Amino acid sequence: MSTISFPDGFLWGGATAANQLEGAYLEDGKGLSIQDVMPQGIMTPRTDGPTDDNLKQVGIDFYHRYAEDIALFAEMGFKTFRFSIAWSRIFPKGDETEPNEAGLAFYDRVLDELERHGIEPLVTISHYETPLHLAETYDGWVNRDMIGFYERYVRTLFTRYGARVKYWLTFNEINSIVHAPFMSGGINTPKDQLSPTDLYQAIHHELVASALATKAARELAPNAQIGCMVLSMPVYPLTPNPDDVFAALTTERVNLAFGDIHVRGEYPGYYLRSLREQGVELTITDEDRTLLKENTVDFVSFSYYSSICETTDESKRVMGEGNLFGGVKNPTLKESEWGWQIDPVGLRLVLNQFWDRWQKPLFIVENGLGAKDQLVEIDGVKTVADDYRIAYLQAHLEAVGEAVADGVDLMGYTTWGCIDLVSASTAQLSKRYGFIYVDRNDDGSGSLDRYKKKSFDWYAEVIRTNGASL
Ligand code: BG6
Repeated sequence: MSTISFPDGFLWGGATAANQLEGAYLEDGKGLSIQDVMPQGIMTPRTDGPTDDNLKQVGIDFYHRYAEDIALFAEMGFKTFRFSIAWSRIFPKGDETEPNEAGLAFYDRVLDELERHGIEPLVTISHYETPLHLAETYDGWVNRDMIGFYERYVRTLFTRYGARVKYWLTFNEINSIVHAPFMSGGINTPKDQLSPTDLYQAIHHELVASALATKAARELAPNAQIGCMVLSMPVYPLTPNPDDVFAALTTERVNLAFGDIHVRGEYPGYYLRSLREQGVELTITDEDRTLLKENTVDFVSFSYYSSICETTDESKRVMGEGNLFGGVKNPTLKESEWGWQIDPVGLRLVLNQFWDRWQKPLFIVENGLGAKDQLVEIDGVKTVADDYRIAYLQAHLEAVGEAVADGVDLMGYTTWGCIDLVSASTAQLSKRYGFIYVDRNDDGSGSLDRYKKKSFDWYAEVIRTNGASL
C-alpha cells in the first residue's frame, strides 16, 4: 500500500477512437473516412479506395456490441469513457448542410448506455477520421473552408448532445499533423510534397477551428468543458552539452506551441521566429486573432507514451521507434515490443511542466502499453496473464501520484485502448492495449468474443480504492 492519493471525483477510465473499434464502416449512411484508405496505418501510402485487408472495416464491432462493452467498463468501475464521434457518420462527405440522423442516433444509444451505468462521457470531436471527401476535394485542413465544415459539425454535436456530454476534446493529438499530415490533418498532398507554408496554414486553420468549437460550446452547451489534446513527449538532452540542452528545448517547443496557443490565445514568439526562418508567411485575419484570444481552453488533455532525446551531434543521433514522433533513442530506457521507450518519470515531468507552464487543469487521456498478448485457459476460464501491462500502468500511476502530490490539478486518467482495438500507427490488432481481450487477429480471423485479462481486476481495484491500492 502506498501513500499515493488522488483527488475525490478523479475521473478514472479508458479511451478509444471510433475508427479503431466501431467497424460498421459503411453502415447507416456512414461515409468513407481517411482511415478507409489506410489499411496499413501510417507505414505505407494511402490506397486509392477501401481494400478488404483493412481491419478497421470491422474493428472490434463496437458498433453492434457497445452495450456489452460498456457493461464491462462499468464492471471495472469506470468513471469516464473516452470515445470519438466518427465525423463521417454525422456528415458522410463532410461538406453537406444537413447531418445524417442515423449516425446521430447511434451516439445517442451509446450515451444512453453510459448514463445507465453512471459513466461520464469524454468525447473527442475529431480523432484521425476526417471524411475522405474533404481530404480529396479540399486537401483537408490546408483549405480554409474546413473551418466552416468543422464548425457546422461541432454545432450539430453540441446541439444534439450538449446537455448530456460535459467534457469535449477538439482534435486528437493536434500537434501530430506535423508528422502525419494525412492521418492527422486529412491533407491529401503527400508529405514529401507538402510545403511548410501549406502545413502551417493547415495548423492555423485547425487552431482557429478549435477556438470556434470553444466559442460554439459557450453558446450551445454552457456547462461543457472544452479541452485541447496534445501528444506529449518530453525531450531530454542526450548530453549535458548546453547545445544539446537547447536543442532539446527547440524540439520540445514543436509540441509545446500547441498548448501555448490553446491556453494563451496567441502565437508565442519562438513559434513566429521559426515560421520566419522557414520562410512561412501565414494568412491570419483579424477575426482569427480575436477568436484565438477570446476562446482559450478550459483544460489541457494529452497522451503520453514515451520520451525522446535530442542532440546536435549527428554521429550520436541514433533514432528510436516511437509514437508518431520518433526521436533520438535514450540509452538508459527499456522499450516495448514495438520499440517505444518506457519512461514513467517522463509522465511526471510532463504533468509538472504543463501545470507549471499553464496553470490549467490537466487530463491524461491516453497512456498504456501495446503488447502481444497470449490467451490462455486458467481453471477453465480464458484470460491473459498480462503482468507486464500491470507493471507498466502501476509505474506510470505512481509517477502520476507524485505529480498530484506536487499540487498538479489533474482531472482524470484514461488508459489507451481499454479494450483491444486496431492500432493507429500499424493497423494491427496484435498490438493490444486492453484490459479486455478481443478475439480477432491480424488476418481478420476470430470470434470477436471478449475475455477479461488479469489487468481487468487490477484496474478495477485501483479505481475502487481511488488509487490507494497502487
Ligand atoms: C495515439 C493515438 O497516438 O496513440 C491513438 O491517439 C493510438 O489513436 C495510440 O492508437 C497508440 O498508438 P498505436 O499506433 O499503438 O495504436
